[in-house]
Amino acid sequence: MKTTQPTNYGVEEIAELFPSLVQIKDESLREKVAAVWNEAITTGCGGKGWTFDELRAVRFTLLAGDIDMTFAIQRDYLIAGALLADVGKPLEYDKDASGKVIQGKFGQQLRHPFSGVALAYKHGIPGEVLHIIATHSHEGDKVERSIESIIFHHADFVDFDIAKLLGKRAAKK
Ligand SMILES: [Fe+2]
Repeated sequence: MKTTQPTNYGVEEIAELFPSLVQIKDESLREKVAAVWNEAITTGCGGKGWTFDELRAVRFTLLAGDIDMTFAIQRDYLIAGALLADVGKPLEYDKDASGKVIQGKFGQQLRHPFSGVALAYKHGIPGEVLHIIATHSHEGDKVERSIESIIFHHADFVDFDIAKLLGKRAAKK
């Protein structure tokens, strides 16, 4: 038997923890989201439930610990990296005899992150930007990406994955 009676938190209380909850326009969905959090909070901590203060102290990134998340972004490098990430693509691709665009022999040897770095290096592009070009795709998965590169890498895949999905849906029609 439980020794503590869990309180029930509604939308208003849960929104104290997650202000964006009130941005859900669909009232029923908003209430359901709050109900899910209510259950997690009141039944968690081994059934004892968590107080809001405890939750705020624990932070939801839980295992990340006490990391100061203040950081600066080198915006110029991020923009330049975003603009140049695919600059190697014109070198990666070629046209076959029928005019169809294909990955060329050079592109098979060196995908665009590599040729992009080579090209940008020739033009004196700084290392911070070369790093973004080099690591933006899966070629960079074994590399510790800079903050700017992490941002661009994720943004690039949001775009790529959505394009892939839309392409698949269109093919089904
Ligand atoms: Fe790319």
